[in-house]
Amino acid sequence: MASTPIYIENDSRSNEIRKQTIDLIPKSHKTYTPTQLVVNRAEGARLWNPEGREFIDFSSGVLVANLGHNHPYFEERYASYISNLPRNAYNMLTEIEVTAARRLIKNLNHKKMEKVLWSTCGSAGIIKAIWSALQYHPDRHIILSTKYGFHGKKGLAGDITGEKSKNPNVRWIDFIMFTDQRDVPAQPSDQDHWIGQQLDALKQEYPNQISMLVTEPYLGAKGSFHPPSWYLRQLNDWCDENNIVFILDEVQSCHGRTGEMYAFKKHGLDPDLVVLGKGIGNGEPISAVTGRADILDLMDYGEASDTFSGNPRGCAAVVATLDTFEKFPIVENCYKMSGIVANQLYKLIEEFEFLGHARGEGLVWGLEINAYAGRSADEMANESVLQAYHHGIHLIGPLAGNVLRISPPLIISHTEVIEGFNRLYKAFDAISNMTR
Ligand SMILES: Cc1ncc(COP(=O)(O)O)c(C=O)c1O
Repeated sequence: MASTPIYIENDSRSNEIRKQTIDLIPKSHKTYTPTQLVVNRAEGARLWNPEGREFIDFSSGVLVANLGHNHPYFEERYASYISNLPRNAYNMLTEIEVTAARRLIKNLNHKKMEKVLWSTCGSAGIIKAIWSALQYHPDRHIILSTKYGFHGKKGLAGDITGEKSKNPNVRWIDFIMFTDQRDVPAQPSDQDHWIGQQLDALKQEYPNQISMLVTEPYLGAKGSFHPPSWYLRQLNDWCDENNIVFILDEVQSCHGRTGEMYAFKKHGLDPDLVVLGKGIGNGEPISAVTGRADILDLMDYGEASDTFSGNPRGCAAVVATLDTFEKFPIVENCYKMSGIVANQLYKLIEEFEFLGHARGEGLVWGLEINAYAGRSADEMANESVLQAYHHGIHLIGPLAGNVLRISPPLIISHTEVIEGFNRLYKAFDAISNMTR
């Protein structure tokens, strides 16, 4: 069933591309946004549509372009690494692949981060991490996952996403959730025994049958819920005590997004396997499972290989990304801009009645939109994305129906953050006036 293309007044060329997209590409390939911005130029934290209108990018693609678009240093390094390399190196070895693995391990700088297993997207990385853990514990069939996570749509990654699974081997642990970032307690309270109790209950129910626990540093798709370190540490400790493989999904949080290069460092964790994606290649389709050699070495020749994983361009992008992070204070900038984004969000919340809570860290924030003036929260959120577009801000479609994602490239400047929030203010003001 094809749908009606989105039409936005005065977007003549963009409307034509929106229409052709619907004609040629199944809609399942796209995630719905009420705007479907058409881009034909991108630089830093800015995007331009074919009509020449400029937008501040509050999405980074989908938290991928951490270095921004067309970062000159990244592009120069990348071009120098790929020149003369084969397009594909399946059944060939390249120096760039070992360079990428070595550089990544050095950058991860943790005793358990010994080997790198490449993939081409986050979900495939998750699947390879699960395969590896199942090889490590071939006699244990239970997979634990924390609830409401997003690990991808494909196969085993889809099985451990959400809160229900058709996979009979998946069991769930609650993820700790606070509605406002300012309410996240630095220390656990007496009521927080439930975490250990849930884990122990599962251990009793499935003695020596639990192979792994998969979790992530924060819930993105569920609406941006960012837990305290002690929650994640408790999961990690329990896995260590019980020889259960602890897999941390850093597909989204990696490469600076949370204000530290890796979220596992920020939270003081020692995962056995970490899955990296999105920002690892600043847009090239590459991802990786990194971690313990005794786990990652168990699969035999070919068992985790595929056509594109670890291809030379992906590996070149990994190295060029690390070069750029090492040369410029990008993570520091993310950390600094985080405080400014938080302040701006809290100011907006004070100003507009239909704005709810804000949650986030680094440059990954969620802003709740409430029902207002007879319109549902989801309608208000869609209207917000549309009005943001009209005022020069590009947002991805709302998370969980009514949460706006604010996730600009980590290189965004102070001036751009302020300018972006001024534009958002105007967008919300326009909504207020419409509903008055
Ligand atoms: C935390 C997390 N894990 C896994 C995935 C799946 O990655 P991909 O879409 O590249 O398969 C995503 C994608 O959004 C993600 O955010």
